[in-house]
Amino acid sequence: MSTPFYITTPIYYVNAKPHLGHAYTTLVADVVTRFHDMCGCETFFLTGTDEHGDKIVQAAEKEGLEPREYVDNISGLFRALWPELNISNSDFIRTTDAGHIAVVKHILQKIYDDGDIYFSEYEGLYCFGCERFYTERELVDGKCPDHEVAPDIVKEANYFFKMSRYQEWLIDHIKNNPEFIRPKRYRNEVLAFLSEPLEDLCISRPKSRITWGITLPFDEEYVTYVWFDALLNYISALGYPDGERFKKYWPVAQHIVAKDILKPHGIYWPIMLKAAGIPVYKHLNVHGYWNVDQSKMSKSLGNVVEPLQLKNVYGLDAFRYFLMREMAFGLDSSFNEEALVHRINADLANDLGNLVSRVTAMIHRYFNGLVPAFHPEFKDTPDIDVRQQAAVAVKAFEANMQGFAFHKATMAIWVFVGRLNKYIDLKAPWVLAKNPSALGELESVMYNLLEGIRIISGLIYPVMPQTAATIQNQLGLNPDAGPFFRLDRLKSWGETATGNRVEKSTPLFPRIELRSDAHEQKAVTKGPKLKPQISFDEFGKLDLRVATVLKAEAIPKSKKLLKLEVDMGEIRTIVAGISQSYEPKDIIGRQVIVVANLKPAKLMGVESNGMVLAAVDQQGASIAAPGRKVAPGTPVS
Ligand code: MSP
Repeated sequence: MSTPFYITTPIYYVNAKPHLGHAYTTLVADVVTRFHDMCGCETFFLTGTDEHGDKIVQAAEKEGLEPREYVDNISGLFRALWPELNISNSDFIRTTDAGHIAVVKHILQKIYDDGDIYFSEYEGLYCFGCERFYTERELVDGKCPDHEVAPDIVKEANYFFKMSRYQEWLIDHIKNNPEFIRPKRYRNEVLAFLSEPLEDLCISRPKSRITWGITLPFDEEYVTYVWFDALLNYISALGYPDGERFKKYWPVAQHIVAKDILKPHGIYWPIMLKAAGIPVYKHLNVHGYWNVDQSKMSKSLGNVVEPLQLKNVYGLDAFRYFLMREMAFGLDSSFNEEALVHRINADLANDLGNLVSRVTAMIHRYFNGLVPAFHPEFKDTPDIDVRQQAAVAVKAFEANMQGFAFHKATMAIWVFVGRLNKYIDLKAPWVLAKNPSALGELESVMYNLLEGIRIISGLIYPVMPQTAATIQNQLGLNPDAGPFFRLDRLKSWGETATGNRVEKSTPLFPRIELRSDAHEQKAVTKGPKLKPQISFDEFGKLDLRVATVLKAEAIPKSKKLLKLEVDMGEIRTIVAGISQSYEPKDIIGRQVIVVANLKPAKLMGVESNGMVLAAVDQQGASIAAPGRKVAPGTPVS
């Protein structure tokens, strides 16, 4: 048995639904796991959700839900998505799991007892979006580079982790282990960052400001900073400290992240491990960003690509293939639906699909659907020797998969697909079939083609597991003969048994037209999308009323919510998420439109009996109001 293999994805925040970026990272983890299965390794693949912190509380507030209910919902969306994308994760961790919380407390206590955590007052530039303090030099034009807003000055007494103490050790470790952070560009980025003095990390948040987190084991008044909590998932899921899984898999740990979270993974995490006396991970594999038609994918631009929609329109394996073929791991890529359609038609329908259908059809035509005899005595010249070309493809595939160069690994397979198609054209089995004395050669050519396709079906397995299985069934390979995708079996020639029945194939990938209806075409990637139509009756169920705001006040600890008392023929309390756009004084006396028959909901402990309508764009909320003053309670229809 080869060395075990352990791979992780980031645990995703539950403040938004899963999108193409999350799907890509998780798909990469799935592909490398399946590749290691091919190599006969024992594998463990971890993904999950990151559920504590300010961001989550804000997102829950926006939905009018308690954090617990909210995180259960969104975590459930991630968990349900992965089987839809044929993701083979071994476990799914949530930072709200009791086992995880216990590990976080254990590690905090350990580091605290060892003297690497201290208490101090700190005033700094804090970005609420990132939930962390920034140094002046990290800002771009005085703004947080991610959220493009000026950070707030926050003064707080907090606990700090002595990262500075480990700076030299980390620099040496990265220099002595060139593959620790890869590709090289990200290793260099981390080293460049470490060339400046490292500040200690604030690892607590006072409960007066935020309570949705893990309480520090040594101070009840504080919760743990979300990153210190989240990174530990990689060991808590393995049953640190005594679990068998931890012992087996931690020594070979590899992480996959995108460049956005290089710093916590490349700096905080190894230092946390070192301070806790745990060996550091083996590799941090960092990929670039998927943009959409050259712009950043974002909710406000309305261009968020939803993986399930793409799967439903184009098919799962085609979608998986496209993502792996198109992005050079480490660099950014631009998602574009036309390119996806082009790849499906050229690589999948034409090159691979035609190869399989031509060969299986000829096996039926010339050999009644049965695998012909193998004739090792018929040697092809080196330029068309498909046996030798298969060996080249398998070697390139293996090396590129090991090196996370998935686009090159898939390219190597398609070079071989092209060679097999060319082999058919050069050997012209239809000519051999007319000549009874060429029967041996015809058998040899057709057998070689079947063997080539068998090897291809194994090589595509990590990226296209369903298609791999379909081809295997068509070739009549015996499933009892062990996993057909094992790499050692792809290195041998002559495994397809003579006499096996080959199925006539239906097209593996039908050609698709680029949809001419531009609106429909854009619907998959562009937004904001219109919701499905509703009937007049359904609309009629809404009771919309004009209300006059009598009182307004901010809700303590909430950044968005105002508590309003309104007159709509009767007096009601309504909570509205508009405090970033309206001061209480601006709204008192104004008329608003409310949904009067919405079921009451509790928001930050206040019961809301209705909802205020507002237009919301990047600048914030703008409330909807009648064109002239009308009596409170007037229906809106
Ligand atoms: N919760 C933290 C991670 C904690 S890990 C201990 C977090 N979550 S996240 O939901 O924001 O996920 C970030 C990750 O999602 C990226 O590192 C990447 O894996 C994936 N992607 C999100 N958007 C992406 C693109 N546009 N393109 C490619 N991947 C991106 O950060």
